[in-house]
Amino acid sequence: MQRSLSSALATLCGIAIVISVCSCGKSPAGGKLLVGFSQIGAESGWRSAETDSIRSEAEKRGVDLKFSDAQQKQENQIKAIRSFIAQKVDAIILAPVVETGWEPVLMEVQRAKIPVVLVDRGIKVSDESLYATLIASDFVEEGRMAGEWLVQKLGGKGNVVELQGTTGAAPAIDRKKGFEQAIAKAPGIKIIKSQTGDFTRAKGKEVMEAFLKAEGKNIQAVYAHNDDMALGALQAIEEAGLKPGQDLVVVSIDGVKGAFEAMVAGKLNCTVECNPLLGPAAFDAVEALHAGKSVPKKSIVQDKVFDQSTAKATIDSRKY
Ligand code: AHR
Repeated sequence: MQRSLSSALATLCGIAIVISVCSCGKSPAGGKLLVGFSQIGAESGWRSAETDSIRSEAEKRGVDLKFSDAQQKQENQIKAIRSFIAQKVDAIILAPVVETGWEPVLMEVQRAKIPVVLVDRGIKVSDESLYATLIASDFVEEGRMAGEWLVQKLGGKGNVVELQGTTGAAPAIDRKKGFEQAIAKAPGIKIIKSQTGDFTRAKGKEVMEAFLKAEGKNIQAVYAHNDDMALGALQAIEEAGLKPGQDLVVVSIDGVKGAFEAMVAGKLNCTVECNPLLGPAAFDAVEALHAGKSVPKKSIVQDKVFDQSTAKATIDSRKY
């Protein structure tokens, strides 16, 4: 039985512009839907959870999924998309590593009449008809929630170091923006260092080591654009002889299991959830588009804040 897009998007809030793309041609996968999924890589626990969600949903629905891991490189995603066109897929699911540079390849996709479902990250294009729909969290809002939580925790005063996500990626740009908007209301809070840690644990640790070397006890808080970088930072803080969660407040985004474990251990103070379980919504969109139905241009995943006060009670129910 085909699930409706609205049921899988139960926690998502659709935005008004609706478009309809029909790729009603015959699928080359013997009646099965043939779908290409261009994934960014496996840089974080969050991303692995997203990959699992899309893979398992494809299997559940009998979709023939062509999976490509771009190893964080846009050029690899572009190559994968061209190969999906050559394989005459029915739809392409794209998690774009960065916001810009997609127009030429998406024009090729459009000429081949293949609908594109963007998952988790948005893109900047002059012609929005180059993709059918975007299913993602509101990253500005996530940054704002992290910032507001920190302002409260620090009582409006303190020096913050920021571990940014991949340069040019929508979550890095928007989470920075939302956080800055929130702390602007507390002039006593300042970002004293900000650098990319590329959304990885290893880079998060490395950059935090450099921050500690340069600023030492002048740092009161760490804001990491994802949990993996925060987990790397926790290691760096401990190796510097300090107690994360006590000597320094650490707040991050994603809500992966490792972050909950670190909160229960008293090391991470707060994480803002970013739900990676996008498989059901992505394939609802693919199936609707294949049937020539309309889908919302944008569906926003609702996220929320978890801190040490709620971590213990919620850790066992976490799905990723
Ligand atoms: O686009 C979502 C972000 O990308 C997640 O926060 C991060 O963990 C991932 O790599």
